[in-house]
Amino acid sequence: MVESPFKPEILRGKVALLTGGGSGIGYEISLQLGKHGASIAIMGRRKHVVDSAVSSLKSVGIPAIGFEGDVRKRDDAARVVESTFKHFGRLDILVNAAAGNFLVPSEDLSSNGFRTVMDIDSVGTFTMCLEALKYLKKGGLGKDPSTAGGTIINISATLHYTATWYQIHVSAAKAAVDSITRNLALEWGTDYDIRVNGIAPGPIGDTAGMSKLGLEGIASEAMEKMPLFKVGEKWDIAMAAVYIASDAGGFFATAYGDLVCNSYKGLVQEWSYPGKYVNGTTLVVDGGEWLSKPRH
Ligand code: HXC
Repeated sequence: MVESPFKPEILRGKVALLTGGGSGIGYEISLQLGKHGASIAIMGRRKHVVDSAVSSLKSVGIPAIGFEGDVRKRDDAARVVESTFKHFGRLDILVNAAAGNFLVPSEDLSSNGFRTVMDIDSVGTFTMCLEALKYLKKGGLGKDPSTAGGTIINISATLHYTATWYQIHVSAAKAAVDSITRNLALEWGTDYDIRVNGIAPGPIGDTAGMSKLGLEGIASEAMEKMPLFKVGEKWDIAMAAVYIASDAGGFFATAYGDLVCNSYKGLVQEWSYPGKYVNGTTLVVDGGEWLSKPRH
């Protein structure tokens, strides 16, 4: 595995809660946020998966705790967010990585099947954001910069940028996730200094998404048509998450000396910290796959 290009302490003191953080892409994000200094809380439906992920994180020295819970249940969301706050004393980063998926032609999909994926991916993401809000809110810029507004990262996809065979439910669900990202970035960025962004992974090797969608067998053939001639690794997605959660993507004050004066036509508008400017975007990490087409 390639070494991280980021300094290991860039998320020091931060606390991250990840839904679906016990396996696949979610686990790799947990691991990398932890390796860069964050304490990690994982929420997942399968207790053994959560327990095993927490043990693995602890074995490399990352403070971690796990909670069994289903993002479709508001009580579970509230309990897990509150328990995370009680355990670590703060919450800075929420990553919504829980997702459901299966391949099915639209005519064979029941409305309950459609709703199930919408409930996990879209409603679940919104519910988690809602429950986390009070903990992510700014604690008072200028008094204690370390408690300034947190950040949310929603894991999306590129399926809905065009149309994707047998993925009507997931495409609709991820389109909704992207809308949630933009709307919360607008409202909560304005009101609470909370940045909300997404990451849209392309084909990522060794994931449930690839095996469930039957893409592993065709990956090598597909690679020849892709701009970078390769599928991605979970690490690629995790590095995007580290970037968004860090000083580079956002605001993690280190000292009052970092304050800069924003002025317009010579008039001081406000004092603020540098950074904190990536908000409301969904970063596509797919090697250019979704926009590629054969050479003429
Ligand atoms: C048709 C299906 C189906 C299938 C379930 N359903 N699987 N319909 N084909 N293969 C229907 C059921 O018939 C039912 O509708 C409804 O969906 C609910 O099914 P349940 O099994 O009761 O739901 P549940 O146990 O909650 O399971 C949720 C799930 C499951 C989404 C169906 O696959 C799951 O839990 N997955 C979680 C893990 C996962 O999928 N991770 C991969 C994410 S990858 P009826 O009408 O019969 O009641 C990813 C990548 C996206 O997201 C991007 C890819 C490029």
